[in-house]
Amino acid sequence: MYRTNTCGELNISNVGQQVTLCGWLQRSRDLGGMTFIDLRDRYGITQLAFNMETDATLCEQARRLGREYVLQVTGTVIERSSKNAKIPTGEIEIQVSKLTVLNESKVPPFTIEDQSDGGDDLRMKYRYLDIRRNPVKNNLILRHQMAMLVRNYLSSQNFLEIETPMLIKSTPEGARDFVVPSRMNPGEFYALPQSPQQYKQLLMVAGMDRYFQIVRCFRDEDLRADRQPEFTQIDCEMSFVEQEDVLQMFEGLAKHLFKEMKGLEFGKFERISWHDAMRLYGSDKPDKRFGMEFVEVNDVVKGHGFGLFDNAPLVVGICAAGCAEYTRKQLDELTEFVKRPQVGAGGMVYVKYNADGTFKSSVDKFYGQDDLKALADKFGARPGDLMLLLCGEPMKTRVQLCALRLEMGSRLGLRDPQKYAPLWVVDFPLLEWDDETQRFYAMHHPFTAPKPEDEPLLDDPNRWGDIRANAYDIVINGVEVGGGSIRIHDRQLQNKMFHTLGFTDESAYAQFGFLMDAFTYGAPPHAGLAFGFDRLCSIFGGVDSIRDFIAFPKNNSGRDVMSGSPSPIAKEQLEELQIAIKS
Ligand code: AMO
Repeated sequence: MYRTNTCGELNISNVGQQVTLCGWLQRSRDLGGMTFIDLRDRYGITQLAFNMETDATLCEQARRLGREYVLQVTGTVIERSSKNAKIPTGEIEIQVSKLTVLNESKVPPFTIEDQSDGGDDLRMKYRYLDIRRNPVKNNLILRHQMAMLVRNYLSSQNFLEIETPMLIKSTPEGARDFVVPSRMNPGEFYALPQSPQQYKQLLMVAGMDRYFQIVRCFRDEDLRADRQPEFTQIDCEMSFVEQEDVLQMFEGLAKHLFKEMKGLEFGKFERISWHDAMRLYGSDKPDKRFGMEFVEVNDVVKGHGFGLFDNAPLVVGICAAGCAEYTRKQLDELTEFVKRPQVGAGGMVYVKYNADGTFKSSVDKFYGQDDLKALADKFGARPGDLMLLLCGEPMKTRVQLCALRLEMGSRLGLRDPQKYAPLWVVDFPLLEWDDETQRFYAMHHPFTAPKPEDEPLLDDPNRWGDIRANAYDIVINGVEVGGGSIRIHDRQLQNKMFHTLGFTDESAYAQFGFLMDAFTYGAPPHAGLAFGFDRLCSIFGGVDSIRDFIAFPKNNSGRDVMSGSPSPIAKEQLEELQIAIKS
């Protein structure tokens, strides 16, 4: 037997016991007469004590050990003279009588401590060492706990976990596919699933009624902190349900996770239409940990001779409570912020509502004190507040103001990662116009049903942009953690949708024939949703980057720096696959 206990479980009640532990040498301290070693495993740290007087040979041996050596020790649990209240094993130590080096270790390239000295790239290259560190290890433990809770909850609600293929025909979810060449079918390719969308719909046709899968998905898209080329969904589908059933079911799952993981209870999640979310927050994933809603002020600012506002289709702003004292420098910083290419505004107008009731603005030339008071009233501003305004084409301006709102939220400490603001965004547009290709695309995917009352608009191409979908997203703290929709289960409607998206009968059949055929054999009404599991974990972990919750993630260029993938493949392999590479 390698060990009797782990390094995280012994305490004062074990004093006097003979134990054997295994683990890694975290740290050693040589105090002359005594040598102490912190022995670490997944469960914690236990202090080992070696006494020069009682066993000089053993103590000498202990002194020669390096960091991250793998050790097995046998000894007696004794009470420590100087206790460490910070760790569960802090009242005891092991008086070691036997020491075996199970394996040596090179000096690690960074310190295996909570605060490591290793940069991001280095830690990714040696991810197996990074995972030895508490913050990363704990994130993976959190992920496991969440997965268990999800499985148990959905299973208790009659969902069946069913695996779907990884080598599939392309699923259009808006991103590019990763493709896999088929050796047995030269010139033909599988795609890795962007999601199991079509398969889960087929499982509904198959009568499975409630399906879920914690499943890997692949999308060849530009990467960000909350996007990985391979990521995990909690993918779900249900039959014989309306939107309300779906929202309640998955709100239930989210509440279950909050309760079990965080001890937090929520009432009914707020719901906001996509249209209102854009109007009030400039985003389809508003961060509602704080207010600062947009106020449209066209009616009060126009007609005062300020050309920029007079000519703009929309003048809109936010009110930052208590910020009237902002200095010139702070205001300049904010102007610079909105002018950055990532935000793209031309400039920013500020209006300070001073504590003494007077106003100071960057447009004093055009607006008198009474005009600014009228503006302040429109915002519901109070003395001491600061109003920030942008203007321009409505949607662009709203998106720019969204960036400014989030920046102000961060500056004011209103985006506490331990605070949670979950909500549903509903009534998404069904179709989205793309200027570049001059056509409409499905905003969600082509199987999403329009709202029944908007269905007739499909017959009028001029109104396509107005059609609302039976689609919904779940948003927490400004992050889209999941999305789904009611599906089209009627073949005629699906055909109409394909035509709207520019498919001919033939091209639609070539791509989705198997699904269209299936729908002729009694497809039940069905709907579903997929959570982004990595994002859900990162939110529960209070961290922005989903990489921290993935054991072996890719970097921002989609590379696995540890294994060195992607990498070229051998000429023979290419030949076998009949793939020619241009040199
Ligand atoms: P959607 O494309 O909205 O819907 O994806 C569902 C959720 O998956 C997460 N997500 C990602 N997470 C990390 N990296 C990525 N690259 C990434 N892309 C998406 C998001 C998102 O909300 N088949 C539909 C679901 C359905 O209709 O049932 C789908 O995949 O959190």
